Amino acid sequence: MNRNTDFIPFARPDIGRGEEEAVLRVLRSGWLTTASEAKSFEEEFARYVGSPYALAVNSATAGLHLALEALGTGPGDRVITSPYTFTATAGVIRHLGADPLFVDIAPGTFHIDPQGIENAIARENGGKAGEKAREKGTIRAILPIHVGGEVWGMPEIAGLSREYGIPVVEDSAHAFPSRTAGGFAGTLGGIGVYSFYATKTITTGEGGMVVTRNQEAAKRMDMMRLHGIDREVWNRYTEKGASWRYAVMEAGFKYNMTDIAAALGRVQLGRAGEFLEKRKEIAARYRRAFAERDYLIPPRDAEGHAWHLFLLRIDGEKLSISRDDFIDKLQEAGIGTSVHFIPLHLHPYYGNRYGFKAEDFPAAYAAYQQVISLPIYPAMREDQVRRVIDAVIRTGDSARGAGRHRQ
Ligand SMILES: Cc1ncc(COP(=O)(O)O)c(C=O)c1O
Repeated sequence: MNRNTDFIPFARPDIGRGEEEAVLRVLRSGWLTTASEAKSFEEEFARYVGSPYALAVNSATAGLHLALEALGTGPGDRVITSPYTFTATAGVIRHLGADPLFVDIAPGTFHIDPQGIENAIARENGGKAGEKAREKGTIRAILPIHVGGEVWGMPEIAGLSREYGIPVVEDSAHAFPSRTAGGFAGTLGGIGVYSFYATKTITTGEGGMVVTRNQEAAKRMDMMRLHGIDREVWNRYTEKGASWRYAVMEAGFKYNMTDIAAALGRVQLGRAGEFLEKRKEIAARYRRAFAERDYLIPPRDAEGHAWHLFLLRIDGEKLSISRDDFIDKLQEAGIGTSVHFIPLHLHPYYGNRYGFKAEDFPAAYAAYQQVISLPIYPAMREDQVRRVIDAVIRTGDSARGAGRHRQ
């Protein structure tokens, strides 16, 4: 019924002739995996965001794992993060034998609450702050997430990082190219990690990029992303560096990006500005259209927003249907949506391991119950944007005034 030809998918990459030709060039070159395309992609990305080091990897998950590993995260450590994220953010903490220290989001936002971070640091260190927190050192990193591409609370988080000596790793999976007065998201803390997964603002199918100013961390991540081998693999195969000799320094990972993916990424990077303008236009149209309905809470028009997601909140108090019903109605109208996020503490793994209840993170739980992610991508046509707006308003208006729905 809803899988008709007019169905508007939740996400769709914009792949043009340039991307096709770039990938074909690699396929015909005789060398498919990490080499000059990956190196060029890194150089171009580093220039774009203004970071001295950029490392291409095969996912943001891999990048987050490498970042925390490079900071020395291990068993017994804790990493402060928000439950309002995808499991990758906290999963990598567990891969290293450490535990996430979840801090709720600030009410009315989708972002970790800086005050909550400070409270958590004080609690974790027996009420001690400052130098004492540094001495104990069990909190290895603060890992904020730029949910949807909006950057929020970073000056406060950077201040806490300085005060307590705890590095920041930015989960910038949604946040390319989000900008703030202090620079691009991902360059505001110690290490930043972007995702080029198929639905993201630029894509390589699967892929990611890690940026840092920290030379030592960059060196460690460079080695660990490719088996813990201490030199760049392409040197082994180029004529100049042809050699069978290499040294394994650590039990590293297999996280390198292929040249096929990097070729695609380079063309997408060149189109990032064009993509952003289209996303901004769609966001502005949605915001204008939804402003007049009291049961809709559109996202803020934050400065430098990358608009990876359009996170619309539905005020269930004013409607006779639930958020889930709202999603079903949009699906019936041929519109794909998603929910970002089912907070981690509601998932069986985290819930069972740490004994969480839904109310333990009330702001995250409240946001989850209200939120719907609408389609927003450069390949969306004008008539499709209008159809999404009409369907949201039709669904909401017909459920308005019929009383509050019962959970
Ligand atoms: C907030 C967040 N962090 C990390 C990731 C992991 O990204 P990847 O799929 O590139 O590993 C995602 C994926 O969607 C995400 O939403």
